[in-house]
Amino acid sequence: MILPIYTYGQPVLRKVSEDIDKDYPELNKLIDDMFETMYNSQGVGLAAPQIGRAIRLVVITLDCLSEDYPEYKDFNEAYINPHILEIDDTETELMDEGCLSLPGISEPVRRATRIKVKWFDREWNEHEEWVTGFLARVMQHEFDHLEGKVFTDRISPLRKQLIRKKLSCLLSGKFTCGYKVKIK
Ligand code: NI
Repeated sequence: MILPIYTYGQPVLRKVSEDIDKDYPELNKLIDDMFETMYNSQGVGLAAPQIGRAIRLVVITLDCLSEDYPEYKDFNEAYINPHILEIDDTETELMDEGCLSLPGISEPVRRATRIKVKWFDREWNEHEEWVTGFLARVMQHEFDHLEGKVFTDRISPLRKQLIRKKLSCLLSGKFTCGYKVKIK
């Protein structure tokens, strides 16, 4: 089932999300719905607050990038209770990001290229890994959502000033996009 995506201005996007346990109601169905919602809107990642739930759950698909990055072929992963343990910022990279919750906005964001992350997969196996490359970027973007942050919080004051109007259009619902959204 395709779920409506909560856009910029919705209070749930500013909440710090909580860990869940194995008894979380209909977790598998929720994960399937999040994948379907992400594919439908052509996103590479979707965090639970974006569908209105302040829980630590994220889905990421990188299969669409597999022409340029063969290592991401069939990459479709769910992350339960993810936490960033370490950020190695000896190397950072500036790259344009967008977000399904901020349709029409794309801005360069500086992020570390290497992070240490722990999470559970949908079979509840625990993982703890150093992650690099494009996946490290997408993870940092998605896991920010779980801390109540969006990518425009991380852009320069000048860039933020330049998109002020676009942000206020999002707040007042004056925008269109190709997928179902929940505004207010
Ligand atoms: Ni996002």
